[in-house]
Order: sequence, then C-alpha cells, then structure tokens
Amino acid sequence: MTGHVEIRAARPAEYPAVLETVCAAFGERVRPYMTAMLWGDPTLTTEDIRVAAVDGAIASVVRIADRPIRYGTATLRLAGVGAVSTHPDYQGRGLASRVLEDAACSMRERGYHLAMLFTGIQPFYARLGWTAVSEPGFRVVCSPLPRSGEGLGEGAAPRPEAPIIRPFDQSRDLPAIMRIYDAFNAGRFGPYLRTSAYWRCAHSRERNIMPSLVAEQSGEVIAYASTTPPGNRLILYEAACLPGAGDAFDPLASAIIGQAQAHDLTAIEARLPPGHGLRRAFQHMKGATVEDRSHPGMMLLPLDLPALCQAAASQGLPDWSAPLKEGAARPVVYWWPDHF
Ligand SMILES: CC(C)(COP(=O)(O)OP(=O)(O)OC[C@H]1O[C@@H](n2cnc3c(N)ncnc32)[C@H](O)[C@@H]1OP(=O)(O)O)[C@@H](O)C(=O)NCCC(=O)NCCS
Repeated sequence: MTGHVEIRAARPAEYPAVLETVCAAFGERVRPYMTAMLWGDPTLTTEDIRVAAVDGAIASVVRIADRPIRYGTATLRLAGVGAVSTHPDYQGRGLASRVLEDAACSMRERGYHLAMLFTGIQPFYARLGWTAVSEPGFRVVCSPLPRSGEGLGEGAAPRPEAPIIRPFDQSRDLPAIMRIYDAFNAGRFGPYLRTSAYWRCAHSRERNIMPSLVAEQSGEVIAYASTTPPGNRLILYEAACLPGAGDAFDPLASAIIGQAQAHDLTAIEARLPPGHGLRRAFQHMKGATVEDRSHPGMMLLPLDLPALCQAAASQGLPDWSAPLKEGAARPVVYWWPDHF
C-alpha cells in the first residue's frame, strides 16, 4: 500500500473531511444525520472520531458514542460504534479493520465496559472479535385489519376516564415524556440513560427520538408510543407508560392500528421486547396476530470482562464471557433512536 498511514483521533478541523468520507462511503442520504452527529451531539469528544489518514487525507472513519446504559440497578459504560466507513478509493486495504482496532483500544483506555454496533455485514466484525446478539421484536399481522377501536375486550365501551390518544406536541409534552422514559426503564437491561440535553439535541431529532402518539388522562400524559412516519411500512420502535398506567397501551395499540389502516398496511413491525405491555395489547385485539420477529443486526464487543462479570453477578445474571455466549448479555432492550 502506498502513502503514509496514520491511525488516530480526527482533529475537529478535519470534521468536514470526515463528513465527506462517510458520505462517499454510505451515500448522500446520511449527510443530515452525519452533520448532526458531528456538530449536534453534546456527548461527542475529540477522542470519539477515529480515522485513518493517508498522506493527510481522511480515508477511513469510525465514530464512538458515549451511551451509558441501565443494567438492572447497575449502570454499564457502553460505547456505541457507528459511521464505520472507508472512502471507496481506499477500500480493501485493511484500513477500517485498523481503525476499529484503534477504536477498541481507545474505548478500553477510557474505561468503557462494552461496545455495541448495528450492521448488515456481521462477518467483517466477527473477524475482529464482535459477537452477534439478536434484538427481540414482533410483528402484528392483521387480516383483515380490525377497525380502529375494535377488539379492546368483549363489547368494550369507552370508559369515561379512558385515556385520550393524540399526536405528541413537543412544546408541552417533552418533560412528561422524559419522566415516563425514566420511570418505565428503571431496572431494565439496555436502555440508554438519556439526559435532558440529549433529548433536545439536533442529533436526537435527526434520529427521530420523539414520540408520535401520547396517551393523556385527566390532563396528564401517562404513556407514549414512537413510530416511523407511516409509508411503505410502519415501525413501532419505542413505547412506555408511567408505573400503573399499562391500560393506556390498549388505546395506543388501537391508534397504531388506525395509522396502519390509513396507509393500507397489513402489518406493523415492532422493535419492543418480550413482555412489553403494548405487545399484550395487540394480542388482545380481535383480528390481530402477533408473531415473534427478532432483528439480527446488533453486535457486542466486551471491553472490560471483569467489570461485566461483576455487574452480572450483582444482578443475578450469568457471567459474561469472551467471545460472548448467547444469553450472557440478555435481556437487552435498546431503543432504536439511540442507535448512535
Ligand atoms: C465496510 C467498509 C467500512 C470496509 O472498509 P475497508 O477499509 O475496505 O475494510 P478492510 O479493508 O479492513 O476489510 C475489508 C473487508 O470488509 C468486508 N466487507 C466490505 N464490504 C462488505 C460488504 N458489503 N459485505 C460484506 N463484507 C464486506 C470484507 O470482508 C472485506 O474483506 P476482503 O477484503 O477480504 O474481501 C467499507 O467497505 C465501507 O465503507 N462500506 C460502505 C459503508 C458500510 O457499509 N459501512 C459498514 C456499516 S456497518
């Protein structure tokens, strides 16, 4: 290989060149998201963009994102790895592999316990020690679709105090949504500890972090659901409620079915874990069938095995191992907008 190769952190002055390299590798569609990531994510530090520079030109990029997660009552320092890309002029020369190794060293040095990424090319990462862990989910198939509002129990008439479902309104709902997110995820395994700055930053908006629907009762928002804007398909990627407000998932499920109907869709893809209250609500709907559907893209790399084992022991879970054994990392709930 010709040219002088440096593997290191990118300097902030090089971020425009980083952006161009990532867009050359992934295509122009990632430009808004990458722009928000480089200049709109409050967690980004000068150690987080790792690059291969060939004769000073940014040839390959890896991004590290600081994403501490809940692990039962403990917290794990998780690093999200994304934007893995090599400019087409430099591919096939081992650069991405070297930058990923450098990123792993940097993450270890900085005390991260675990790294996570999402990919469609798992064998590439498996060579570097990463392990695939499927993300549980389900699919709601409706044939024919029940009419919105049907199937919420035998002959159910709306109760006078039943929650109202309406679109999310950021100007007034966000503080309630943040409280619901924290309360619902307390004690779970995997959810990111979202800060107030993270909820509001440009990067999160680009990731579509905000809910689409909220459930309101007696003037208080008690639950929400987040879906992609309906198009060719409808993806339900997050839902939460206040403690004791699980009944709100019934009308939320009904409203989501209504969104699907309005776009002539016969299925809803849900990235929610087993046992989620919204899954139960769909199961109780007449004419709706719920099928397990896991997503294969998640991969994990243990960085600090003793710390992971200690955290597992404190939560009564089996030990972590390297390479990871299926089950060690379970159960993991990682909400889709937080995918770096
Ligand atoms: C994937 C990518 C980062 C690899 O960069 P690179 O510098 O060429 O990587 P390396 O030289 O270290 O390793 C090359 C290996 O990548 C793997 N690879 C690259 N593209 C692949 C693809 N689309 N499917 C499967 N494997 C692929 C191959 O195993 C290849 O090995 P080979 O050279 O023996 O065939 C680069 O091809 C790229 O930028 N692709 C477009 C963006 C992308 O898909 N990024 C990954 C998102 S998770």
